[in-house]
Amino acid sequence: MPTWLVTGGAGFIGGNFVLEAVRLGVRVVNLDALTYAGNLQTLASLEGNPDHVFVRGDIGDRALVSRLLAEHRPDAVLNFAAESHVDRSIDGPAAFIDTNVVGTLGLLEAVRDYWKGLDGDAKAAFRFLHVSTDEVYGTLGETGKFTETTPYAPNSPYSASKAASDHLVRAFHHTYGLPTLTTNCSNNYGPYHFPEKLIPLVIAKALAGEPLPVYGDGQQVRDWLFVTDHCEAIRTVLEKGRVGETYNVGGDSERRNLEVVETICRLLDACRPREDGQPRSSQITFVADRPGHDRRYAIDASKLQNELGWTPRHTFESGIAETVDWYLDNQDWVRGILDGSYRLERMGAGA
Ligand SMILES: NC(=O)c1ccc[n+]([C@@H]2O[C@H](COP(=O)([O-])OP(=O)(O)OC[C@H]3O[C@@H](n4cnc5c(N)ncnc54)[C@H](O)[C@@H]3O)[C@@H](O)[C@H]2O)c1
Repeated sequence: MPTWLVTGGAGFIGGNFVLEAVRLGVRVVNLDALTYAGNLQTLASLEGNPDHVFVRGDIGDRALVSRLLAEHRPDAVLNFAAESHVDRSIDGPAAFIDTNVVGTLGLLEAVRDYWKGLDGDAKAAFRFLHVSTDEVYGTLGETGKFTETTPYAPNSPYSASKAASDHLVRAFHHTYGLPTLTTNCSNNYGPYHFPEKLIPLVIAKALAGEPLPVYGDGQQVRDWLFVTDHCEAIRTVLEKGRVGETYNVGGDSERRNLEVVETICRLLDACRPREDGQPRSSQITFVADRPGHDRRYAIDASKLQNELGWTPRHTFESGIAETVDWYLDNQDWVRGILDGSYRLERMGAGA
């Protein structure tokens, strides 16, 4: 049975990843600081399961990470932990540097020491996989897609901090030989998504009968990927990826933000019509755009598809329908978050 140290495994993607990994027979040591974005309710089904060890702590705490590595002897370390919300990075960039840059550096240093001390087969088989974003590439015009050779041009404090962490991972491979892999993925959606992000925010506000905020003209394009397809891509890269390489991950599902909001409205109208019979699209409200808002992201995932044989299982249509159903069936999970500090307030509106 392999053991993986997963960081950020109480967050959106990390949580989905941990649930699947344990189901697939992996022993997971889950290190998460439980910031506002971490939620143990996501992992409730693993309570009492000996194959899941949860540790509350910071990826930048080198002594803690070294102790976990020595105690659990993982075959791989997967780094999901991050400050991840662009709007929050506009209001307070420092936390993004602390975790995404300084924290990742501390993690890399602890992992390098552990890896150096492994012998023979264990050392050869060990991998450090860093989970990153396509936002490091900046923004696109009407055409073209990001490939693994697109120059980095991050535009927000969030993407700048992720770009810095990607560079550190690359440097640890080139300088010290650490067997690293990096994935750069497009926008994810699906179950357990924190309700400050577009899709869960719109579902929550649509159900509450509140205005549905669309930034600017709503014509920004994102390339959407269902979260479990991303998780499967990460497992594929971990298993078959070439050491030192980066792999783009995307669903080939470009949609304008306004289209996404309208699709959610239509799905909710069909299964939960408003009492007054009005379409939920009447709740759409255009609000001031995000400062520095990237216009279009699109991913060319052909390297991952051709070299490693991964393809997404969901289309945008099947994935968004599944997501809306999940939120309708899991209102307790959403309420658990909303009872806390976050109250669907707008952030990152300007300097
Ligand atoms: N959400 C997306 O669409 C998307 C797309 C591509 C890549 N990514 C990347 O995937 C990763 C996970 O994203 P997400 O959407 O699940 O984020 P998230 O904000 O939902 O979860 C992040 C998790 O990391 C934890 N964390 C934060 N700081 C920490 C620290 N210092 N030490 C330990 N744990 C800490 C949080 O408590 C939380 O559980 C991030 O690295 C993000 O950059 C996200």
